[in-house]
Amino acid sequence: MIRTASADDLMTLKDMFWSHISAHREYISHGELQMGVADMKVSGGKTEAGPSPDGERYWMKYISGKFSSPDAEIFVAEEGGKITGFCVTEITEDGAKPFGVICDVLVDESSRGAGTGSRLLETALEWLRGRGIGDVYLESGKNNTAAHEFFMHRGFVHVSDIFRLA
Ligand SMILES: CC(C)(COP(=O)(O)OP(=O)(O)OC[C@H]1O[C@@H](n2cnc3c(N)ncnc32)[C@H](O)[C@@H]1OP(=O)(O)O)[C@@H](O)C(=O)NCCC(=O)NCCS
Repeated sequence: MIRTASADDLMTLKDMFWSHISAHREYISHGELQMGVADMKVSGGKTEAGPSPDGERYWMKYISGKFSSPDAEIFVAEEGGKITGFCVTEITEDGAKPFGVICDVLVDESSRGAGTGSRLLETALEWLRGRGIGDVYLESGKNNTAAHEFFMHRGFVHVSDIFRLA
């Protein structure tokens, strides 16, 4: 089932997120760098991103902010009392019109391929549509190709690339 997150879930979400980005650095995009959740080294023109020493604390700050914001929602997927995935979405008001952002979608490796990610994404998009938002963005690490396929199969198109001063 998909439900909205409670404060009691936040540590579980942090642990899921942290173990994922520690093992799968391709998840890291500019958002994690900007939030202090991850660091990036550049050597010989190649970038190497990884979780930062204070990253767990910064991620708790991030998710707690989303939890308390009226313009954001956190959905969790639960099976047999265990959280198997989550999705964070928010509405941003600094454009010509409000737009939606899918901030994170993560499903436990053992639960993938069974539609959980699709249901979480659709629930977030429905939440946004219910608030009149059809213009929706997301960012993803440049090498996170499986996730890119997932989003492109669900109606998203690639619109830009992000560069950081090394
Ligand atoms: C992207 C992600 C959320 C999808 O979750 P999911 O529960 O596997 O999603 P679904 O089951 O709805 O769909 C998965 C797709 O992969 C395919 N798939 C099949 N078996 C799979 C498996 N064992 N693992 C992953 N994907 C599988 C499905 O057929 C489906 O393909 P489609 O896009 O052609 O329909 C999940 O892979 C994930 O958590 N990835 C790591 C985190 C991440 O990178 N998130 C995106 C950040 S921007």
